[in-house]
This record gives sequence, structure tokens and C-alpha cells, in this order.
Amino acid sequence: QQVEPFDYVIFGATGDLTMRKLLPALYNRLRMGQIPDDARIIGASRTELDREAYVARARDALKRFLPSDILSPELVERFLALLNYVPLDSSRQSEQWDSLTSLFTKAQPDRVRVFYFATAPQLYGSICENLHRYGLITANSRVVLEKPIGTDMATATAINDGVGQYFPEKQIYRIDHYLGKETVQNVLALRFANPLMNAAWSGEYIESVQITAVETVGVENRAAYYDTSGALRDMIQNHLLQVLCLVAMEAPDSLEADAVRNAKLAVLKALRPITDATAATETVRAQYTAGMVDGKNVPGYLEELGKPSATETYAAIRAWVDTPRWKKVPFYIRTAKRSGKKVSEIVVTFRPSATTMFGTTPARNRLVLRIQPNEGLDLRLNVKNPALDVFNLQPANLDTSIRMEGGLPFPDSYERLLLDAVRGDPVLFIRRDEVEAAWHWAEPILEAWKHDKTPMQTYSAGSYGPEQATQLLASHGDTWHEASE
Ligand code: BG6
Repeated sequence: QQVEPFDYVIFGATGDLTMRKLLPALYNRLRMGQIPDDARIIGASRTELDREAYVARARDALKRFLPSDILSPELVERFLALLNYVPLDSSRQSEQWDSLTSLFTKAQPDRVRVFYFATAPQLYGSICENLHRYGLITANSRVVLEKPIGTDMATATAINDGVGQYFPEKQIYRIDHYLGKETVQNVLALRFANPLMNAAWSGEYIESVQITAVETVGVENRAAYYDTSGALRDMIQNHLLQVLCLVAMEAPDSLEADAVRNAKLAVLKALRPITDATAATETVRAQYTAGMVDGKNVPGYLEELGKPSATETYAAIRAWVDTPRWKKVPFYIRTAKRSGKKVSEIVVTFRPSATTMFGTTPARNRLVLRIQPNEGLDLRLNVKNPALDVFNLQPANLDTSIRMEGGLPFPDSYERLLLDAVRGDPVLFIRRDEVEAAWHWAEPILEAWKHDKTPMQTYSAGSYGPEQATQLLASHGDTWHEASE
């Protein structure tokens, strides 16, 4: 249903994220009747543009990033009519701020105001300071922070402190777009709405969990950012740990934000530390070399970068959640750029049946939750092979797609999150203590890597990663999901 009228101020309004994700997501929500016509979207960035020029860029972005069949000229015009633009160096004090404040002089004081920071995170604190200085923060204001929240604990603390000086925690929305994905939220439904799953969801029945998010793209035009980040900071410290939390958490009392976030925090705090002493056996890191992706030759990471680098484009980690539920269950997490295919999935392998009556050990039950693409789930069971008189077993897969009515594509993960901030629902956003607990676990791994405790491996672009990642599982008698297909 439609949200109340709001003003959305996007800092970093000419950037890639705004053009590729934020404006298309807001357009889609307007199309679905969720955005009232008196809402305002105000872009702010250093680029000197007038409103007309900004609207032209926005129009191009919609054309570029949305399928043409959902772009009706009438709706596009209605959407563009919501846009305003102010050229503004938001991290500095200047009279440029007047053009932003003047847009609010007549605004009702209780109208929802969202400030979306799609800028470099080190600017978040000074933007907040200026929002305060120029009197823009109201009781009904919220600030949305894009990742990365820092590159380690110290920088994350500085960012959170900087923002926290001007916004109370309940007005801060740290976005993790993986939580906006339908199939990630489905982990909660699958676990807690199905007694069948719920009863088997522990180390008593589960042998291992794999969480994978690999992609075919390389670092593209983001090399400058990516090289200071790497796979662990870019994907694992945030997205994949959040997925792990949903898989491993105890049942929250409700879907109320703090109930869910407390349950996730408990998982993050129970992650067994990986240190210099254990990094070599529990982690793998690697960089891609030249190879072939989607039938095309692509250069290696260092060639793309044009300089030496110790940044990993692949990481695989064996993590342990030290709670009674997850005793003896390895959680394998992995992510890669320039992989053979784009896939994000959760694979839960159950312990083998103890029965001896069939003469052989039946294949393990296995549940694959496909986050993307082809969203759905696949549960492997054992049935009798009907072609034989003797009692032989064969696997049977209960494979179901999770689809929108009418076969429509899933909404982009940003769509829901952008409006959740307007609605004031922070359940799918990250609380400060979660960010810090995640860094508390990730930072010693980065340290160990800095001390070269885990050698940097290579893998060819288009492959499934280095041999060492296979070994990481083989030592527990496991294989990565694609290898067991
Ligand atoms: C972003 C990372 O947060 O997530 C990118 O910075 C990555 O490097 C992207 O490509 C992956 O998101 P998705 O939704 O395509 O799996």
C-alpha cells in the first residue's frame, strides 16, 4: 500500500548506485502505486547540474536499467516530476546548502525525511554534521547508510560515532541489500513456519552448511574501490554473514526489529575467532588470472589493475558457530569475482541415515536454497528405484521455484528497503552492534592475511576457484555443491 508523503534526499545522486539501483527502484514503487505524487526525491552531489539536466540523466538511467515493457511514458513523466536536484559538496560548510534548506522552509515539520548516503563512507560523519548545522534534521528524519561501514573496526567505529552524534540509533538505517532479497527472507519462513524443517535444524541432523555468492563479473570500473576492499570486506563481512545469521539464529520472539537483530547478534558473537594460528587451515584467499567467462577471454585481476596487489578476489572460510545448536557443524562461506557462473545459494547437507537395512548408506538429504538466479528450493530425498525388483535407492529431488504471481520477476532488493526506511521499519537493516560484531570476527582474518598466514592462491577466471578451496572441504569429507551435482 501507499506510504505517506516523504522527502528523500540522496547524497551521491549522480553516482552509479543511484542511477543503477535507487532511481529504478523508486520508479518501480511508484508504478506499483506505493509512492504518492506529492513525494519528493532530491538529488544532491558535487556535479554542477540544473534540475533539467539531472532529470535527463535520470530518464536515461531508467531506460538503461529497466526493461522497456515497464516504462510507460506517462509513469516516467510522473516519476521525473518528483525529482529535484541541488549541486552540493555535502561534506563542507558553504552557502550551497541554502539551495537544499530552501526546499524545506515550507515543509511540514512532521513529514518523513530520509537522507540516503550513497557517497564515500568517510564522508558520512561530516554530512551529518552539516545536516545538523543547517537545521535539516527533524524528529521524523532517518538516515540510510550504504555499505561499506568502514574497512575495519576502527574506521567502522569512527563512522558510527560520527553519524551517532547527530542521529539516535533508531533513526539510522544501515542497508544490506542481501536482506532485501526475497529468498534470503525466506530462510525465516522455511525454518520457522515449517515444523519439519525446524525440528531438523541443528547439528544433530545437519552435517554442514555452505553459503555461496559467486559472480561472473570482475571488478569492472570499481577497481579503485575494490582494491582497497577485497572479497572478505566486500561480501563476507556484511552480506554473507547476514545470511549465515538467518540460517543459524535461534527463533526470535517476533519479527519485530530488535527481536530479529538480537537473535542475529547472538550468532555473530558466537562465531569462533579465526586467528594467525588457525587462518591457514580455516581460510583460503585467491586472485583470478586471465581466463574465459561466458565464452569471452578476460584479463586477470592484476592486469586489469595494472599494478601489483595483495587484494583477494576470492575467499572461502570455514566458520564455526559456537552454540549448542551448531556444535560440530562447519559453515563454509565463499565468494568470488570472475567465477564460472553467477549464483548465490545456501546448501544444507544433513547427516547420513544410520540405517543398515539397504545394505548401503542412503545418500544424504540435502536442501539447496537458491537465492539467485532461479529463486527456489530443492530438497534431495531418497526413494526406491522403481526399475529394479531389488531394493535399490535413488535420489528424488523436490524442486520448487519461488515465483511471483503471474511469473513476474522479483522486485529488486532495493525496492522494499528504500520504502522500509520511509515506513520506519528497520527490521531488514543492520544495527550498530551487528556491524561491530561482524568486524570483530572479520578483522583478525584480515590481520592474519596481512601477516601472510594464508598464502594468496590464483584461479583462472571462469573457474570455480582454487584447488585449496576444494581441500578446505575435503578435509571434512565434503565437496562444494557444484562439484556434487
Ligand atoms: C555488492 C558488492 O555489495 O554486492 C559487489 O559491493 C557485488 O561487489 C554485489 O557485485 C553483489 O550483489 P548481487 O545482488 O548481485 O548478488
